[in-house]
Amino acid sequence: MSQRIYIFDTTLRDGEQVPGCQLTTKEKVIVAKELERLGVDIIEAGFPVSSPGDFQSVVEVSRAVSGSIVCALSRCVIADIDAAGEALKFAKRGRIHTGIGSSDIHIKNKFNSTREQILEQAVRSVKHARKYVDDVEFYAEDAGRADLDFLCRLTEAVISAGATVVNIPDTTGYCLPGEYGDKIKCIYNSVPNVDKATISIHCHNDLGLATANSLAGIMNGARQVEVTMNGIGERAGNTALEEVVMALKVHRELGFETGIDSTRLFPVSQLISEMMRMPVQANKAIVGRNAFAHSSGIHQDGHLKNSENYEIMKPQDVGVDKSSILLTARSGRHALKHRLELLGYTYDKPTLDSIYSRFLDMADVRKEVNDKDLMELVR
Ligand code: KIV
Ligand code: ZN
Repeated sequence: MSQRIYIFDTTLRDGEQVPGCQLTTKEKVIVAKELERLGVDIIEAGFPVSSPGDFQSVVEVSRAVSGSIVCALSRCVIADIDAAGEALKFAKRGRIHTGIGSSDIHIKNKFNSTREQILEQAVRSVKHARKYVDDVEFYAEDAGRADLDFLCRLTEAVISAGATVVNIPDTTGYCLPGEYGDKIKCIYNSVPNVDKATISIHCHNDLGLATANSLAGIMNGARQVEVTMNGIGERAGNTALEEVVMALKVHRELGFETGIDSTRLFPVSQLISEMMRMPVQANKAIVGRNAFAHSSGIHQDGHLKNSENYEIMKPQDVGVDKSSILLTARSGRHALKHRLELLGYTYDKPTLDSIYSRFLDMADVRKEVNDKDLMELVR
């Protein structure tokens, strides 16, 4: 039987921190309802202490959502936790996500503190958060660069204090997959009360490794993964929800499953891109415009013979209507013939050869030859 991986979506919090991506409360509710329909297990709706607008967004998302857990972020600061607890008062199932820096870099440079003081503050904060909700997640910020022994001690202490989930973020996107996977494995092997909590992973994409690191975390015992739609987030972004979900689906042999309805991935990606005014790059895995578009002659010929030659998933699996064949100067006769047939034209070989040579002349000056151009050409 497959092991369930819980999808924690932070599009509305880590994603929304991106300059220019801010949403109104109304828009946040629309996105949250779509995430719920997508099958996300936990929706991080905001950071209530940060602004009255964010507080209100968590309140309204809590009222609107019933199928997913609604989560609110706080630092290990009593006023933050109080704001998060208040904002979640209408949540059917609410979670407070509280945390503090765990690397020596953060402990010294950000907090001018010591490991012992950080540990005490973390424990105090988790206990305080438990006064509001039964479900408290602790994040050990910058865990990717933290001392492993200290990270294990911190994890043990917050679990004893009542944390139900412990998040081990690679906040700066520093880790390599093997290194991050080993970190998670080590936490599993050395924290005595680890079975009392879920270990969560939260990776940033500064080296383009967020998805690889998240998969390494899952393969080494993490059962919750924190992601955003389209991978939006601070700096180079967060792990993309669609990438982790489809990697686990395509690689069934790994033995993991999520509750995500993958056929909703493309429409939700489009909605979020439009609402957040953040275009999806054309070659973005799974949801980019070119993810199911074939443009070179060799690939087009192989794809037309059998789509499995160049596609590891069906476009319909992610909510895309169909694959496309782009007619460019790199396309071959087979693709041209196929497109002409779709338009209702069949030709014998010599005529097709002559159309093909005129097609190449046209394609050399235009980036892409569309149906209208083709009709002109055959006429
Ligand atoms: O990247 C990070 O460490 C975070 C925490 C607030 C979870 O976003
Ligand atoms: Zn983050």
